[in-house]
Amino acid sequence: MKKKPLINVCLFPAAGYGTRFLPATKSMPKEMLPILTKPLIQYGVEEAMEAGMNTMAIVTGRGKRAIEDHFDVSYELEHQIKGTSKEKMLADIRHIIDKCVFSYTRQIEMKGLGHAILTGKALVGHQPFAVILADDLCVNENEGVLSQMVKLYEKYQCSIVAIEEIDPQQTDKYGIIAGAEIEPGIYRVSTMIEKPAPEDAPSNLAIIGRYILTPDIFDILQRTKPGKAGEIQITDALMEQAKSGNVIACKFNGKRYDCGSIDGYVQATVELYNEMKNN
Ligand code: UTP
Repeated sequence: MKKKPLINVCLFPAAGYGTRFLPATKSMPKEMLPILTKPLIQYGVEEAMEAGMNTMAIVTGRGKRAIEDHFDVSYELEHQIKGTSKEKMLADIRHIIDKCVFSYTRQIEMKGLGHAILTGKALVGHQPFAVILADDLCVNENEGVLSQMVKLYEKYQCSIVAIEEIDPQQTDKYGIIAGAEIEPGIYRVSTMIEKPAPEDAPSNLAIIGRYILTPDIFDILQRTKPGKAGEIQITDALMEQAKSGNVIACKFNGKRYDCGSIDGYVQATVELYNEMKNN
């Protein structure tokens, strides 16, 4: 019998305004921006499926209905292209719709990533869950980032964050961690700070948009006061767990593109295009 995966649910906070892509994001969610022919959020869902998850919980906001429509059947369109060479272009999304369950809730006020995750509590319930920020596109030749993290969760049974080394001058764009390296590239986190100035940063190890969280995070988020920029920060809540040694950070294998920025978005488009052409 196939082993039941330890983590079933992946939460996608997708309620942000995406102001760096205005006016494109005025009436369209940032998560629907395509890299080649696929929207960012579809890459995220495929990564979660590869890690064994089939329940996708999406926190949306005003103007985000395109996400719901994307993960739904479009009978007219499918009927129209049936039997043509274009039919295969919908095969991947159809497979996702057949295999996964999608649920949605709305974040009414954009009070930060921590608040968006707390909003997802109603969809997640009391179980460990993964979080993907779809604007961080991660690509791997072999095992996806989330799969690597699920293995670590099986071993350590606590919250896991994905990290990468960044230019030390860029620390004020990320949550930065420090801790003891317990295996090559694996750290038990002792400190984490949201967007510190370079001179205040405890390291250059930055958290990227992949998390596995234990459900006690919801109670912690509930009592977390707004931090940097007046937003409820997931980093502050994770710091509570880190105080009792319950956060592991993992330098993942693979490449991340920050598709929430124009530079990262263009770089991802060019590199994935070149790869497609060379295959
Ligand atoms: P970002 O910091 O990239 O913010 O959010 P943003 O609003 O999406 O984009 P910019 O900076 O205005 O261009 C990181 C992730 O957290 C989600 C976003 O959708 C994104 O996936 N988020 C952020 C929420 O869901 N709700 C919030 O209140 C804030």
